[in-house]
Amino acid sequence: MTGINTLTLGRADLPKAAKLLQDGRLVAFPTETVYGLGADARNGQAVAAIYAAKGRPSFNPLIVHVATMAQAETLAHFDDDARAMAQAFWPGPLSLVLSLRDDHGLSSLVTAGLNTVAIRMPAQPLARDLLTLADCPVAAPSANPSGQISPTTAAHVLAGLSGRIDAVLDDGPCEVGVESTIVATNPVRLLRPGGLPVEALEAAIGQPLSRELNPDTPTAPGQLTSHYAPDAPVLLNQTEGAPMLGFGPVNGALNLSPAGDLHEAAANLFAMLREMDEIAQGDTIHVAPIPMTGLGLAINDRLSRAAAPRPSRPPATASTD
Ligand code: TXA
Ligand code: MG
Repeated sequence: MTGINTLTLGRADLPKAAKLLQDGRLVAFPTETVYGLGADARNGQAVAAIYAAKGRPSFNPLIVHVATMAQAETLAHFDDDARAMAQAFWPGPLSLVLSLRDDHGLSSLVTAGLNTVAIRMPAQPLARDLLTLADCPVAAPSANPSGQISPTTAAHVLAGLSGRIDAVLDDGPCEVGVESTIVATNPVRLLRPGGLPVEALEAAIGQPLSRELNPDTPTAPGQLTSHYAPDAPVLLNQTEGAPMLGFGPVNGALNLSPAGDLHEAAANLFAMLREMDEIAQGDTIHVAPIPMTGLGLAINDRLSRAAAPRPSRPPATASTD
């Protein structure tokens, strides 16, 4: 299972990281949202290794990362809405689900056999340089074991995947801190709230975005109930109780943003959930209310998944648990 020597690489090692990708190996790399676990999206064995390293069900498709619009256009068809959103927000924290071209060249494992593909052009400078150097589409889910909290530092990646992946490229903490917003087209609809606020998208396309966030029929299986879960139970929208993960005036052991800034809160979210797990030692983590505007939609989405029932864990012995 484990046993690979996982290298920690920096900017000076970019050629080495790119070569590893070209050789079909797994390289975790920073994006502005979270760290991704990258592999050459055309190489079926490399993509299979992503699913194995994460323990991810193979029906859950991956996002393909590209360096340029020209590269994206070799993979999928862009209708007018898709083109408008790509022009407005790429590079950036937006993934577009588009219909595949016939000659896309991707491993069918990337799309889990669907006739659509999720494509993203990240803005993080090191990610862009890596994608340019590797010169291939790079499939990358968040670089964490399936179901656990997404990584926003190289240390988080190593805590979950050391010994299972070939390298992690370290460029410090991620600026945005929650995963990309996922939008499908034809018709345009929101599949996952994320690092690009819905209000910005709606302004760009000139219409309200319909939401397709039904956990029972997940179009984006990131919408499955328990996800982003710390070990301790989580209780949301609390104004008192301990240990508390605060926001704004509701203070606690940690505070996502004492100033009540949703960008700061998103950037702190996953690291603080990990820290709260240490602090709570299995006791219930209380979380202060977070407004449902801007990045608050993505923050509340991740928190409600962290608080969701966990069917795969052993049942509690007492019903009061
Ligand atoms: O910010 C992000 O999006 C990060 C970084 C690394 O780019 N990646 C990420 O990947 O969050 P992952 O695998 O954790 O989430 C990808 C989501 C999943 O919920 C998956 O179901 C959905 O994208 N997805 C991928 N392809 C899809 C498709 N063709 N149709 C619908 N959903 C798709
Ligand atoms: Mg993920």
